[in-house]
Amino acid sequence: MKVVTTVKEVRDYVKQWKKNGETVGFVPTMGYLHEGHGSLITAARNNNDRVVVSIFVNPMQFGPTEDLESYPRDLEKDSKYCESLGADLIFHPEPSEMYHDDFSTYVDMSVLTEELCGLSRPVHFRGVCTVVNKLFNIVQPDRAYFGEKDAQQLAIIKHMVQDLNMDIEVIGCPIVREEDGLAKSSRNTYLSLEERKAALILSQTVELCKKLIADGETDADVVVSKMKENIEKEPLAKIDYVKAVNGLTMQQQKEIKAPMLIAMAVYIGKTRLIDNYILG
Ligand code: PAJ
Repeated sequence: MKVVTTVKEVRDYVKQWKKNGETVGFVPTMGYLHEGHGSLITAARNNNDRVVVSIFVNPMQFGPTEDLESYPRDLEKDSKYCESLGADLIFHPEPSEMYHDDFSTYVDMSVLTEELCGLSRPVHFRGVCTVVNKLFNIVQPDRAYFGEKDAQQLAIIKHMVQDLNMDIEVIGCPIVREEDGLAKSSRNTYLSLEERKAALILSQTVELCKKLIADGETDADVVVSKMKENIEKEPLAKIDYVKAVNGLTMQQQKEIKAPMLIAMAVYIGKTRLIDNYILG
């Protein structure tokens, strides 16, 4: 496995592979990898001749008061992990390699980016769409792998690929959880011991949501209200949002009906965590 830092090096490898008729699977990440990322790398490994992982903490998708500086980083550990999963190439650029001083082109999507996380993180998805677009142009993969943990991001990337006629298959992979249910996240490292326990309220509320729906509840407002009531029982939790939306358009929906995304963002202390249930 190779670790490279320049666009040119990635292009040279990929060109050679494509010349040999090999397919390329791509997993974009911000590093500090855990088994959630690992599941995407394994899925890419199983279905492509070559696997590229990008590790880039993308400044453009962080708001001015967000955790860009403190975002956890460990390239050495990440490299070993990628190698153990059979990745061929890590692309780990400096911000200056991705954004030259005169950088001025953005990928901005309307509607889908204006709900859920887009409301509390107004510049976030413009940064995600722009960097993923650039990474797609650099790596030119046949398939790209994204986690359902960031369900809105996955829907947005699928939409972008369709809107901009990109010849890339976008594949969603299920949420990987800790043994006690907490969705794995690089940001879980911010949690104190007490907060780590409190964070279980997210997955427990997803379970409550699943149960309400399995028991026949069809009113989305009732499901969302009961989920909010449940989260409010945890003193360290502060709700950013709990919403039931159409799984494709991200617009709020009254009736529980697939395709649907029931998503939440909750602050545990200062750490903002997300979790969701995808129906259909
Ligand atoms: P990052 O948060 O590092 O996540 C990289 C990928 O791993 C995303 O597709 C995310 O959904 C997936 N992932 C994270 N935790 C997961 C879990 N517990 N189970 C399954 N998949 C999980 O998302 C980003 O980086 C960035 O926005 C990026 C797309 C790289 C653009 O900068």
